[in-house]
Amino acid sequence: MAAREHWSGRFGFIMATAGSAVGLGNIWKFPYEAGRNGGGAFLLMYLFFVALFGLTLVIAELIVGRTTQRNPVGAFRALGGGLWPLVGGMGVLAGFVILSFYIVVAGWTLAYLGFMATGSLGTDAAQLGERFGAFVSSPVQPIVYAGMFMVLCAGVVVGGVNSGIEKASRLLMPALFVLLLVLVGRSITLPGAAEGLGYFLRPDWSKVTSATVSSAIGQAFFSLSLGMGALVTYGSYLKSTDTIPGSAAIIVGLDSLVAILAGLMILPAVFAFGFDPSAGPGLTFITLPAVFAQMPGGSFFGVVFFGLLAVAALTSAISLLEVVVCYFTDEHSMHRKSATLLVAMIGFALGIPASLSLGIWSGFTVPGTEKNIFDFMDFTASNLMLPLGGMLTAIFVGWRWSQPASDALIKGGLWPPLASGWVFILRFVAPLSIGYIIYGAIA
Ligand code: TRP
Repeated sequence: MAAREHWSGRFGFIMATAGSAVGLGNIWKFPYEAGRNGGGAFLLMYLFFVALFGLTLVIAELIVGRTTQRNPVGAFRALGGGLWPLVGGMGVLAGFVILSFYIVVAGWTLAYLGFMATGSLGTDAAQLGERFGAFVSSPVQPIVYAGMFMVLCAGVVVGGVNSGIEKASRLLMPALFVLLLVLVGRSITLPGAAEGLGYFLRPDWSKVTSATVSSAIGQAFFSLSLGMGALVTYGSYLKSTDTIPGSAAIIVGLDSLVAILAGLMILPAVFAFGFDPSAGPGLTFITLPAVFAQMPGGSFFGVVFFGLLAVAALTSAISLLEVVVCYFTDEHSMHRKSATLLVAMIGFALGIPASLSLGIWSGFTVPGTEKNIFDFMDFTASNLMLPLGGMLTAIFVGWRWSQPASDALIKGGLWPPLASGWVFILRFVAPLSIGYIIYGAIA
C-alpha cells in the first residue's frame, strides 16, 4: 500500500479544512435561516452553540484522525473496537447521502452562474420565482449540472491529498474571501442597506421557538462539517507532530466569519430593494437575482456571487467525497482512482432521484414520512445521522479515550485546565445538548 499522504503544512491543512466547513451551509442556508428566525437572534444562538461544543468536537474529530492515521471506520476500530466502528460506518454512509443531495444544489449554482453570465434570467421577482421553480423541477437540466459538478469534484479528489485537495483549496479559499469582501462592500453601501444590517445584527427574540433553537444547533453541526468523520479523515492527513487546537480555532473562526459575512452580504441587499427576508431556500436563487437586476453593474456582481457559491460548494463536496474514497482505499485496498470513480458514480446516481423529487416525482413521499426524497435525505443525514454521530464521538472521546487524548493535547502545548474543560464538554455538555436536538427531531 502506498504511504499515507500528509498535508504539506499548516496553511494547506487550514485552507482544506476551512474549505470543507465553508460551503452552501454558510452562504446559502445560513442567511435564509437567519432571515426567517429572528435575524440577530439566530446569529447569536448559532455562535453560542459553535462556541459551546463546536470547537470541542472539531478538535475531538481531528485528534482521532491524527492519532490513528485512518478513515473513520478504521479509526474507531483502532481506538475502540467492539461496535464503535459502526459510528465511523454511519459517518461514511451519511457522507454518501449528503454528497448526493449536495451536488444537486451545487449544480444549481453552476447553472445560475451561466444564466447570470449570459443574462438569460428575467428581472422581476415573480418571474424569477417561476424561473427557479421551472429550472429545479425540470427533469434533465439540473441533473446534467449536478453531473458536471460531480466531475469537477472527482477531478480534484483523484489528484489525492497534496496535488488534489490541498492545491485546489489553497487557490480557491483565498479567492472566495476576495469575492465575498467585494460583495459585502457592495451590499452594505447600497442606499437603504442599514435596515437589513439592523435586522441581521439586532436580535428579535419574539421569533425564537424551540424549533429555532434546534435549527441553530443543526446549522452549527452542518456548517462545521461535524458528526460524520469528515474531520477524522482530514485529521488523518496530519503528521503526529502537528498541533491541533490553534488550527481548529482558526478553522472554526473562519467558518463563523464567512457565515456572518454572508449575512452581511445578503440581508442588506434584500432590504435595500424591499424583498422579504423570510423567503426561505429561494432567497439566494430568486431574491438575489432580483437584487442584481436592479443594481448598477448587477450582472457582474451576479456572476461573482454565483461563482463564490460554486467555489464554496466545491471545496465542501470534495471533503464529502474524500471521506468515502478514503474509506475504500484504507479498508478495501482500492486504488484512489477506482475508488473515486466508483463513489462519484454511485453518488451521482443517488442524486438523480433527489433532483427528480423536486419535479416530476414530487408527488411521491417516502413511506412513513411526509417528505419527498430530497427532504428525506437531507433530514435523515443532517438532522439525525450527523447529530447522532457527533454525540457518539463526544461520548467515545470523553468517556473512553479522554486520558490519551488530553495527554496528547497537553503534550502539544495546550494549557492543562483547558484540556480538562474540553473533556468536561465532551462528557456532559455536548451529549446533552445534542441529545436534545435529536429528541426534537424525532418527537
Ligand atoms: N460544511 C459544509 C457546508 O457548510 C457541508 C459539509 C461538507 C458537511 N462536509 C461535511 C456537512 C461533512 C456535514 C458533514 O456547506
